[in-house]
Amino acid sequence: MAGLDAIVVGQVARDLVLLVDEVPDASRAASVRCRRELLGGKGANQAVGLAQLGARVGLLGVVGQDEVGDRLLGRARSDGIDVAPVVRREGAPSALIVDVVDAGGRWRYLQDIGEEMLLTEADVAGAEEVVRAARAVLVQLQQPLPAALAAARCGRAADRLVVLDGAPDDLDGAAELFALADVLRADAQEAGLLVGDPPKDADAGLRAGRELRGRGPSLVAVEVAGEGNAFVWPDGEVFVPLSETPMVDSTGAGDAFVAALTVGLLRGDPPERTARYAVAAAGATVGHPGGRPALTAEAIEEQLVRIPSD
Ligand SMILES: Nc1ncnc2c1ncn2[C@@H]1O[C@H](COP(=O)(O)OP(=O)(O)O)[C@@H](O)[C@H]1O
Ligand SMILES: [Mg+2]
Repeated sequence: MAGLDAIVVGQVARDLVLLVDEVPDASRAASVRCRRELLGGKGANQAVGLAQLGARVGLLGVVGQDEVGDRLLGRARSDGIDVAPVVRREGAPSALIVDVVDAGGRWRYLQDIGEEMLLTEADVAGAEEVVRAARAVLVQLQQPLPAALAAARCGRAADRLVVLDGAPDDLDGAAELFALADVLRADAQEAGLLVGDPPKDADAGLRAGRELRGRGPSLVAVEVAGEGNAFVWPDGEVFVPLSETPMVDSTGAGDAFVAALTVGLLRGDPPERTARYAVAAAGATVGHPGGRPALTAEAIEEQLVRIPSD
């Protein structure tokens, strides 16, 4: 069987994005300025990003045996994603995420993600062949640790590029997970969980990156909120500031980021170039509501010139 470039192990959900001027107080109403209904969930967003960047990508997540599940898979298929590994769980509704975004770009997520929509170790074992054959295995750490570990072990055993996004909730059990990873990427909040405090500036971001490298991953990317992202690899490091793009909704920017990071590394691009490519992909995702990326070559070019260089 010809392997995929990447398999994403993570969440699949129906995303309902509602843009309002202001989130109403209790007993008040607000008009919705814009509504988008999308294939979402971080796993699916990452897979869409990878497909848009030209990778042959598969998705390992869970949806229900319901109409929403049918629609999500149909959408993913038309995005060019191989959905054969997706698990259909009987008797449970597909996950729903409502993303309410105000005019200042501040989001609130309302999440209806049942226990049954989370991946299990057995789900990963069922897809072992596809996972082993993919050049990169992206593990989205909102999934339960046993499933994340199973996916990372599988990728490592086959000598694949193992990429982690996020922070596991069970940090005590995560030492093995980090040891299995080639790449770890965390947003500021997640970095705070991992190293104690969210990094406040570029130096703190680089320090956090170095510390996390000590736990196993060869390349670490850490967000410094509102400033940019720190990248640390075996023989170098760089802090890449944000692109100058008006923010509508940051949702999914991290997913686009990790998709581009993976594509750059699979291409064998130098880390510094890959770092800027990842930040450009994130920048190309913050200008529209909802987490679905729209990564065209032009959109990325446009962002690359908007990243300040010192
Ligand atoms: N203007 C911008 N240019 C480039 N990157 C941005 C910009 N605004 C936000 N980002 C990046 O987007 C990412 C958001 O990550 P994250 O919170 O993980 O998003 P999500 O989990 O919703 O995909 C961060 O790495 C942040 O630095
Ligand atoms: Mg994220």
